[in-house]
Amino acid sequence: MERTTVISPADVEQQLEHCRAVARLTAQWAQKPLAFVDTYGCQQNEADSERIRGYLARMGFGFTDSEEEARIIVINTCAIREHAEQRVFGNVGALVHVKRRHPDTLICLCGCMVQQPHAAQRLRESYRHVDLVFGPHALWKFPEMIRTLLTQRGRLFSVQDEAGSIAEGIPVARQDRIKAWVSIMYGCNNFCAYCVVPYVRGRERSRKPEDILAEVERLVGEGYKDITLLGQNVNSYGKDLEKPVDFAALLEAVNAIPGDFLIRFMTSHPKDATQRLFETMARCGKVAPVLHLPFQAGNDRVLQVMNRRHTRAEYLEKIQAVRALIPDIVLTSDIIVGFPGETTEEFEDTLKVLEEVRFDALFTFIYSPRAGTPAAQMDDPMPREEKLANFNRLTALQDRISEEKHAAYVGRTVRCLIDGRSDDERYDLTARTPGNRLVRINGDPSALGQFRDVSITGANKWSLFGELV
Ligand code: 5AD
Ligand code: SF4
Repeated sequence: MERTTVISPADVEQQLEHCRAVARLTAQWAQKPLAFVDTYGCQQNEADSERIRGYLARMGFGFTDSEEEARIIVINTCAIREHAEQRVFGNVGALVHVKRRHPDTLICLCGCMVQQPHAAQRLRESYRHVDLVFGPHALWKFPEMIRTLLTQRGRLFSVQDEAGSIAEGIPVARQDRIKAWVSIMYGCNNFCAYCVVPYVRGRERSRKPEDILAEVERLVGEGYKDITLLGQNVNSYGKDLEKPVDFAALLEAVNAIPGDFLIRFMTSHPKDATQRLFETMARCGKVAPVLHLPFQAGNDRVLQVMNRRHTRAEYLEKIQAVRALIPDIVLTSDIIVGFPGETTEEFEDTLKVLEEVRFDALFTFIYSPRAGTPAAQMDDPMPREEKLANFNRLTALQDRISEEKHAAYVGRTVRCLIDGRSDDERYDLTARTPGNRLVRINGDPSALGQFRDVSITGANKWSLFGELV
């Protein structure tokens, strides 16, 4: 296994010194220093962007949604599917005009996409208006790289294949005042055959429990109500620590922090989700009754070729076990349609799992080949139309189930967290059930951040509608 590099507090302090040096520079600019940060992909990327913003704030930057106004543009990219990559290349291509109008604007790309050799090379050769490219491993050095670019001419690429690192003490500028992401570990050791994550984010490495607990305590003290513990595979948390501890023990310790708040976590791998975890979830009052447990495919042959290391029966046993302890648990999952070699008959086993489990919601994807992964080398004879037809059958079935599950809430009163303003103009606010289902309600924004009883009056396949009691 690659060794984890622990970035020393002195090294992080040096980055903060670079921030102060940049702040002295930006203080002399005629225009207000503004930055634009755009994020693609998963919550881990959202959490990384909050650290980039934290650094930028220390460098004296404010934030804007306008690429024209910004002196620094950061695009935090995703590599999970080709579509995500095409969108990034399209948007970065369009920035050539911004760069022409404002040659001083620094254009920076980071995240999983740029850590792939083919993408880094394409940026180097064909996107010459991009000034800085750095992978997830180099995020902690962002201030130093910005300082270099502001004081010297040239482009900077930091996408070496380094061992994964862990750095504590990077400032975080959070986007929300009610919900917070807390990364508890980075990387993945599973190498599912279709997935690029282990290649771009490196091996699993866990933060120390005391660092995590201190961060959650601070967040609760600041009034955060909804804390999500993040990792590619949280169920293997702690195995790499000097003093090994498991995820269930961490949950228990977070649960013991005083205060009125909810604990969520993602993502769990079925092969590592244990009875001990389910018992801990059931016992810990602050742990939300929700489990995101991706199963990807319902057919055992396909699961094996995917290198998932669990069978359909083992998956269903875990679902039964968690339901026995937490009967009304909200269950969600990820599914891939059209993995190389999956026949329509095998795909129908996925539909059977849906009928059997009746998930509350699903994240469904059509398989997308990723360079460097084993699946990209496999024969993939099924025509795209057939994959699409299967995908549509899957979403139609889940839509029906989601609608039925949502309809069962109508008439109930549920204690919800009022968490945001509604983008649907017929409603003022959004709220979340403990299982994280979306509820639209009317009410005064002063209720934001409060746990309140909501009477559920309506539902469709996407969300619930209700009234404050
Ligand atoms: N193609 C399609 N979906 C993928 N996922 C991961 N890699 C791929 C791929 N190459 C999906 C999986 C994973 C989710 C985050 O993205 O379902 O759980
Ligand atoms: Fe990718 Fe599998 Fe790791 Fe999830 S567990 S990040 S799907 S390799």
